[in-house]
Amino acid sequence: MLKKTTWHGVVAMDEMGAIGMNEKLPWHLPLELAHFKNLTINQTICLGNKTYRSFKGPLPNRIHFVLSRSDNVGFEDRDYGREKKIIYFSRLDHLIDKAESQFENIFVCGGATIYAQLMPYISIWHRTTVHTKINGATTFFPKMNWTKWKVVEKKLVKEDSIPWTYEKLERINPLQFGS
Ligand SMILES: NC(=O)c1ccc[n+]([C@@H]2O[C@H](COP(=O)([O-])OP(=O)(O)OC[C@H]3O[C@@H](n4cnc5c(N)ncnc54)[C@H](OP(=O)(O)O)[C@@H]3O)[C@@H](O)[C@H]2O)c1
Repeated sequence: MLKKTTWHGVVAMDEMGAIGMNEKLPWHLPLELAHFKNLTINQTICLGNKTYRSFKGPLPNRIHFVLSRSDNVGFEDRDYGREKKIIYFSRLDHLIDKAESQFENIFVCGGATIYAQLMPYISIWHRTTVHTKINGATTFFPKMNWTKWKVVEKKLVKEDSIPWTYEKLERINPLQFGS
């Protein structure tokens, strides 16, 4: 029997919670991208269509759950199987049903609208804090009460352009839902 699905959140934010600028990431941090790859490789990642479109195409060795009300509508319930790599959903509840019936781990990778909707499901956050304050950011991480979370892993990476800190966080009371 499938184990209960664990929902992970993966985010990189600046010290003010900025995550995006003009539909892109506000920084270029190769080590942080490698860290993202390391976390998500061979996993199922869940993305909003704006974030997915900001990629050059699907990321290798990952299944993409893409939420969109406009792109590929009508294909959302078709089972593409693992080899196809992208599954579109026009409804969040369909995505959740699929995830919880077939996948042990789901990595919620943004953007802001997706974090906001899936936050109650997430029990592990992989949070990168980029040690800067971005001018002109256009997308911010949704409001969240981090005091209900404890840091279980932490590392500082002194990337050439901007240093960043990775923290893995778990809910203090796993039964208490809500952020
Ligand atoms: N720093 C980070 O860790 C990080 C991570 C991810 C993204 N980002 C940045 O965040 C920005 C994008 O974030 P965003 O919040 O603007 O957009 P987003 O969440 O990536 O995508 C929004 C789109 O997702 C679809 N969608 C959302 N909820 C849906 C639902 N319930 N049902 C069906 N479709 C749904 C809609 O697509 P349609 O318009 O096609 O209907 C909506 O326009 C970019 O700048 C990106 O680079 C940063």
